[in-house]
Amino acid sequence: MGKKKGTQKIGILTAGGDCPGINAAIRGVGKTAIVRYGMRILGISDGFSGMINKEFRELSEQDLSGILTMGGTILGTSREKPFKSSKGKNEVRKPDLIVKNYKQLGLDCLVCIGGNGTLKTASLLAQEGLNVVGIPKTIDNDVWGTDVTFGFDSAVNIAAEAIDRLHSTANSHKRIMLIELMGHNAGWIALYSGLAAGGDVILIPEIQYNENKVADYLLSRSKENKPYSIVVVAEGISIPVKDMSAARYLSKRISELTGLETRETVLGYIQRGGTPSPMDRVLATRYGAAAAEMIAMRDFGKMVALRNSEIVSVPLSEVAGKLKLIRPDDPLVVQAMKMGTSFGI
Ligand code: F6P
Repeated sequence: MGKKKGTQKIGILTAGGDCPGINAAIRGVGKTAIVRYGMRILGISDGFSGMINKEFRELSEQDLSGILTMGGTILGTSREKPFKSSKGKNEVRKPDLIVKNYKQLGLDCLVCIGGNGTLKTASLLAQEGLNVVGIPKTIDNDVWGTDVTFGFDSAVNIAAEAIDRLHSTANSHKRIMLIELMGHNAGWIALYSGLAAGGDVILIPEIQYNENKVADYLLSRSKENKPYSIVVVAEGISIPVKDMSAARYLSKRISELTGLETRETVLGYIQRGGTPSPMDRVLATRYGAAAAEMIAMRDFGKMVALRNSEIVSVPLSEVAGKLKLIRPDDPLVVQAMKMGTSFGI
């Protein structure tokens, strides 16, 4: 794969769990790099596996048309962590294979689109001497260093619509409805969609709940002739049993403690699939375009981020290994409590 002298060649990969907006980000990087800077783009297949196995295809401007609104990732993804699983083909260190393939492909930069795990790997690859730019994506919104990740808004929209739909059936049957939402160890999706759709109880990993407090709160609502309640549960809250979803566990416990009828829904991968919201399309496009600008300026080893509505860049070494969690005194939590929402405390 030769290249004209002076033409920069960029590899793009997407790693970790997919989310709405990834294709918009690929398009943002690619179109800016090709149209504005005349760079060449190689789409690396299936995250870091593609760099280890040298699986890629060149992306033309045409290849980037028609993908803005598509869910998933046109490049495929994987949870390959090259620095964790030590040896690859022929017992060579996987990071060494990545460095070798980066050089063989003649890359000037590798754009890594991903969440916490991906950005940590990107930071380590930068330490191995590669030119790397990170773009934060995840429905969980838990990447340190940026106000928001794309994918989050879409997931909140989907989750809020699901909660909206639970209200009418909960009301008809006078039930306690629990809904479990994704977010890994962070409660951002539960907090935002719970607020947006009127959850009566919101349980997040960052605030240790007490199941008796939850039960008392639901009983008091029932005594106040509120015929039903919605309990929004983040998947990462702690429960004392294994092999059971948080919503299932709490559904059983609440029914035992209150005698009220309960039902649970685990929303699952619906939150990650499908077309990105317009907000996520715009954010992903801005991130992608900013990444291309950073490459043009040879500003490597950094992640694009949003701070106070401005696009900035943050050193990957600062981001790696950290999580952005909800502070218990987050203004949204405080506001919700003032309005009577229970966090189970
Ligand atoms: O990070 C996104 C996410 O959807 C989390 O909310 C969830 O815990 C996890 O990925 C699920 O991972 P997997 O796709 O490996 O099942």
